[in-house]
Amino acid sequence: MENFPGIIAFVNQKGGVGKSTGAVHAADCFARQGKKVVLVDADAQQSSFQWVAELNESYPDLKLSSQAIMNPEDLFDKLQKLAEEYDLVVVDGPAKSNEITKAILARCHLALIPCRESIVELRSSGDVLRLIRQVRELRGDLPKAAIFLTQVKNGTVLLREAREALGDDPAIPLMETIIYDRQVFKDAPGQATTVYGMAGRPAKDAAQLYDALFTEALKIFNG
Ligand SMILES: Nc1ncnc2c1ncn2[C@@H]1O[C@H](COP(=O)(O)OP(=O)(O)O)[C@@H](O)[C@H]1O
Ligand SMILES: [Mg+2]
Repeated sequence: MENFPGIIAFVNQKGGVGKSTGAVHAADCFARQGKKVVLVDADAQQSSFQWVAELNESYPDLKLSSQAIMNPEDLFDKLQKLAEEYDLVVVDGPAKSNEITKAILARCHLALIPCRESIVELRSSGDVLRLIRQVRELRGDLPKAAIFLTQVKNGTVLLREAREALGDDPAIPLMETIIYDRQVFKDAPGQATTVYGMAGRPAKDAAQLYDALFTEALKIFNG
């Protein structure tokens, strides 16, 4: 049987890369599949906590809760407990804080690292890769981890350069699925929804990007 990661975290100390967008879409995607999901927002800006609160107002039947937990000690203690209570815990990681990111990595089963494709940003995601390698020395092969490219403008992606800049570590692979730059992702929070709740072709196409990403992520987790 396939294993399901009970705690999935979106981490990268770089801001504005798509952690909150990825986390809320993961939470919404799996909640719509009937899983009991909690999103834990560990970022001081609290954007995903807010976003999920508004989602719940838009869709009262959704089995989706949210909590704001920013203290590293609290994260370490509570993530484990939440994983017993919920089918899935999705963690939205903070910008800047290595300490908070490390507490999340100490508990999550799968770490997904959104990264924009510019060489500068790819190199700066070396910080989170380093933390993952350190935590793995303590936890064995956990957390499983993968990098994905986000906000990619059509036709500009240079996968080979991205692989080179990231160091191409098979233990932290670069995912095949690419999340392209789409206006619907920017519009979703203002409409108290995600692309899963929006009508129209652009939203359906955007939803397929995240569906493909989560399918690939589960494959990597089980691989
Ligand atoms: N695929 C995408 N296409 C277009 N805009 C995006 C996409 N993903 C995220 N964004 C936008 O980029 C900004 C940063 O995303 P966010 O998820 O808040 O990043 P982080 O949580 O890493 O700081 C937000 O304004 C968000 O709406
Ligand atoms: Mg964020």
